[in-house]
Amino acid sequence: MRIDIISCQPDLLTSFFTHSILKRAQEKGIAEVHLHDLRKFAINKHGQIDDYAFGGGAGMVMMIEPIDKCLAGLKAERNYDAVIYMTPDGEQLKQPLVNRLSLLENVIILCGHYKGVDERVREKFITHEISIGDYVLSGGELGAAVLADALIRIIPGVLNDESSALTDSFQDGLLAPPVYTRPAEYEGLKVPEILLSGNQPKIEEWRFEQALARTKARRPDLLND
Ligand code: ADE
Repeated sequence: MRIDIISCQPDLLTSFFTHSILKRAQEKGIAEVHLHDLRKFAINKHGQIDDYAFGGGAGMVMMIEPIDKCLAGLKAERNYDAVIYMTPDGEQLKQPLVNRLSLLENVIILCGHYKGVDERVREKFITHEISIGDYVLSGGELGAAVLADALIRIIPGVLNDESSALTDSFQDGLLAPPVYTRPAEYEGLKVPEILLSGNQPKIEEWRFEQALARTKARRPDLLND
């Protein structure tokens, strides 16, 4: 999968994508992330990419021209399956949407800033609008990082333990069960006996019951979906 991220502050994301599993995914050639500075497509030598809103009101609006030019350059190189705009009024990001998008080959993520982008950008270029939650961030970069991380980590071969992305919270519609590691007892706190039993079917049954109980207690809404 190739992800191109368009931002007016790409530096915010550099360190994130050059670390941890995302670094490994890129080194293994499974995923590529490319950051693009929207200011390179500014309409003048002052680096202008935004302007006042028609009709007045506080806040600047990102102009269509720099975004159009940046997108045109990318689209001239390859076909894109999705052009995603990160925005608080988009579809909320949930695991099923992540799963679907992770099957795509080439994806562009556009990060908004200020009051967002000129509506014509959304009408003409954007195929998906995604929010990472019901709160307003100062830009789309954190959302783009969240989305790219969620997409890349479930691509087969990225995680060492192939099965572990499948047992994440939400992957089967439930929260994940509790997990334990050594020591089996720490200052009187014991690991549940069943996990030390070696009885794999019983362990799986216990895990399922725990996942269900945790989901009922913390996120009953997931059971009604
Ligand atoms: N940009 C600003 N707030 C956002 C949010 N909640 N999700 C995605 N992009 C955003």
